[in-house]
Amino acid sequence: MTSESIHPISHIAIIMDGNGRWASINGLSRNKGHEKGTENIQSIVQRVSELKIKFLTIFAFSTENWNRPKLEVSTLMNLLFDSINKQLDYLISENIRVIHLGEKSSLPSHLQKAIYKCEQATKNNTGLTLNVALNYGGRTEILNSIIKILSTNPSPNQITFKNIEENLYTSGIPDPDLIIRTGGEKRISNFLLWQSAYSEYFFSDLLWPDFTSKDLDNAIDTYFSRQRRFGKV
Ligand code: IPE
Ligand code: IPE
Ligand code: MG
Repeated sequence: MTSESIHPISHIAIIMDGNGRWASINGLSRNKGHEKGTENIQSIVQRVSELKIKFLTIFAFSTENWNRPKLEVSTLMNLLFDSINKQLDYLISENIRVIHLGEKSSLPSHLQKAIYKCEQATKNNTGLTLNVALNYGGRTEILNSIIKILSTNPSPNQITFKNIEENLYTSGIPDPDLIIRTGGEKRISNFLLWQSAYSEYFFSDLLWPDFTSKDLDNAIDTYFSRQRRFGKV
């Protein structure tokens, strides 16, 4: 494959888990773990972009993460705000388009503005599309899609899979081929419930701050050793 050709994987999604345990093992506060975890994002984005994979989705904050202590939540919001602002020049220079997946309205207003600015500034970029799932929940996404469809008063037998897909946050984005979860847990935690119907999973015991671009390459190699059947023989 030449460096210019598009990668056979269209979409990788990552559940970036394990910041808290990384901090605890290293004798640091959970907030330091989140700082390290946030810093780790760029090298993975860089690698996916170099590989000419078209879509990367990163799970940064779930609808259930609001149930964490207030200080941890506000630290996460501030880290994400800083990271979006700090990375903007890099994203533009790398031709990366950023799309937010989730509900913006309940995020702090400074973060909403930063996300909006980043989406606008990168919207015409044609390289990697980086989807940032932030205040994202798969069940909320499906419920909202159904509510939007019903608001047009369709007759029930007119509703199709396509209608549901077109009203998800991920409208127009192919389903993930590969979903990586770091941190050792083997669960989906409300991530891309609809879109993952036929995704391959790769579970890594590495904690997110320790997950490198080499580990990403290893996950991709594993993906290519699998046989996807989609229900066929
Ligand atoms: C992932 O790391 C980051 C978020 C969920 C926001 P965790 O904070 O969940 O780390 P662990 O699972 O407690 O180690
Ligand atoms: C999933 O991790 C959410 C993110 C990585 C943003 P969690 O740490 O919230 O998941 P659970 O609670 O272990 O299922
Ligand atoms: Mg966790």
